[in-house]
Amino acid sequence: MNSNIRTAHDIRKSYVDFFLARGHTEVPSAPLVPKGDATLLFTSAGMVQFKDYYLSPENLPYTRAVSVQKCLRAGDLESVGKTLRHHTFFEMLGNFSFGDYFKHEAVEWAWEYVIDVLQLPPERLYVSIFEDDDEAFGIWNEKIGVPAERIVRLGRKDNFWGPVGKTGVCGPCSEIYYDAGETKGCGSSGCAPGCDCDRYLEFWNLVFPQFVLEEDGTYRPLEKPGIDTGAGLERIAMIMQGAEDNFHTDIFQPLVDAVVGLLPGGTDMTGEAKLGINMIADHA
Ligand code: SER
Repeated sequence: MNSNIRTAHDIRKSYVDFFLARGHTEVPSAPLVPKGDATLLFTSAGMVQFKDYYLSPENLPYTRAVSVQKCLRAGDLESVGKTLRHHTFFEMLGNFSFGDYFKHEAVEWAWEYVIDVLQLPPERLYVSIFEDDDEAFGIWNEKIGVPAERIVRLGRKDNFWGPVGKTGVCGPCSEIYYDAGETKGCGSSGCAPGCDCDRYLEFWNLVFPQFVLEEDGTYRPLEKPGIDTGAGLERIAMIMQGAEDNFHTDIFQPLVDAVVGLLPGGTDMTGEAKLGINMIADHA
C-alpha cells in the first residue's frame, strides 16, 4: 500500500477526519445494548442509534454524522473462524445523512476516501449495486469512471439493506469490494463479487435509505431519503496490513497470541485448533 495508514487507530482517525472535513459531526459509539428499543437485543450497525433521525429529519442536532460503532451480530456466528472475515463483535466506520446529502455525495466521498486516503489500487476494486438501481450505476460509471465490467448488479439478498428489526428504514445499497486475489478464492468459474468465498472482500456498504417497512408489510417512501454507510474496520485493517486474515491484524493478533500462550506446548495450531483459537479471539 502506498499510504501510511496501517494500524486500526490510523484507519479510524483518517475516516473520522475525512468526514469531519465534509461537515459531519462525530458521534461516539452507542452502547452495545440499544437504549429504549424493544425491537433489538444488540446494536448491530452504526445506524441503530440514528434510526429515528431518518423518520423525521427535522429539528435534529445535526444532519450529517460520522461514527465508529461497536457492533454485535449473532447472525454470522457460524461463520466466525471458518472464513477470513466474519465476526460477532466488530467496529463499523460509518457516515450518515439524515435528509441531507444522498447518493451522489455518498458514492463520491466513499471513492475519494478509498482512492485518495487509503490509496487502494483501483484495479483491485469492484462495486455492486441493487439490480435495478440505474441511478447508482450512472454515478459509479459516468461520474466516478468505474468501468461497467467492474459494476455488478445483485439482488435483494445482497443489495437491499434493512430494516434492523422487523420494521423501519431500509433501502437499496451499493457495496465496495477488494479483490484479495485468486489464492483466497473458491476457484469456481462463477466466482465474482457477491460470492460467499473470501476472494472478493466486501468492505464498505453504502445504503440509500429511501423506505420505511411498515408492520403491514408495505414500503412507505421516506419524504427525505438519507444515507447510512458501514465500513468494516477489521476488513480494512486486513487490506492495509496485507494480513492473511482479520485474525492477523493488529486488532486480533494480540488476542490470538494470548490464547496461544495458554495452550500446551506442541499443540498443532492448524485445523480445529486454529478454528477454536480464532473463535475465542472473536468472542473475547
Ligand atoms: N447499515 C448498513 C450495514 O450494516 C450500513 O451501515 O451494512
